[in-house]
Amino acid sequence: MTRPSRLEAWPRAFDPRIELDWGDPVVSRRLLREHLDQDHDGASRRVSVIDGHVRRLLRLLPRPPADLLDAACGPGLYSVRLANAGFRVTALDIGPAVVAHARRLARNADVSDRVHTRVADLRTFDDRDAFDGAVLIYHVLEAFPRRTQRSVLRRLARSLRASAPLLVEMRLRPDQPEGRISSWDVAPRSLLSDRRHLLLVETVHDRARNTYVLRETAVFDDGTAAVQQTSSALTRFDDIRPLFARAGMRVDAIHDGWTRSRGSSLSESVLVVARRAEKGLP
Ligand SMILES: C[S@@+](CC[C@H](N)C(=O)[O-])C[C@H]1O[C@@H](n2cnc3c(N)ncnc32)[C@H](O)[C@@H]1O
Repeated sequence: MTRPSRLEAWPRAFDPRIELDWGDPVVSRRLLREHLDQDHDGASRRVSVIDGHVRRLLRLLPRPPADLLDAACGPGLYSVRLANAGFRVTALDIGPAVVAHARRLARNADVSDRVHTRVADLRTFDDRDAFDGAVLIYHVLEAFPRRTQRSVLRRLARSLRASAPLLVEMRLRPDQPEGRISSWDVAPRSLLSDRRHLLLVETVHDRARNTYVLRETAVFDDGTAAVQQTSSALTRFDDIRPLFARAGMRVDAIHDGWTRSRGSSLSESVLVVARRAEKGLP
């Protein structure tokens, strides 16, 4: 456990000592709780929002039946709805507890035959020409350092069949101004612990580096503490097309969030529709 006093006062993006390990079974179990909580949109959106997103996805994806990859599927809330619409879905995530939940959800919805769940890492998976479409939803790409973002996109591109679409939801800016905001609360539980603790929260938006860090420190009654963070390497609107081009993809459209309007540098988040370029796939 890293001691908070050893850390820099100003959170550093992608600090390996404290960056959240999404694949850790305990983290994944605690995350599942957050994913399913219908009081906030922290890890996954509320199901009423997801229903609307799926209606939008059905307009952007090829017609079912087709093979889809739900990359970083979390608890499978999108995967199972897409399977219900007739797709054969591979629901892939690094977190064992969220993948187990996706499997249960598919079973309960009676679509187990169309949902293939898989614990795998987007940084290392190596599927080739396997899917007619893929989705990467809820600001997952930005959670990788920039160089890793390129290689994850390259792997996603390789997993697609020729001219199949990849839909990536990307956040362009955090909802806070430049600088640090700190707050504290008494939490009955959090991602850091299942017991009651004092939770200190800092968020830092570094505009020059275009990064955003959420650092949380839990202080327990016995005086011990635990700390972790999640970092985001954001992409500027004008850098989206070059990012996908370097991964062997051509961007067809950039939508303003989940709307049909065109995205712009004023968008807070965008839905990128890209396709594997026929030539030059790295
Ligand atoms: C914000 S959640 C989004 C989940 C889902 N797409 C949704 O919107 O409901 C991010 C997900 O990315 C997964 N994830 C993070 N790093 C990953 C990696 N290297 N490979 C696969 N999944 C990863 C996490 O386990 C988590 O389920």
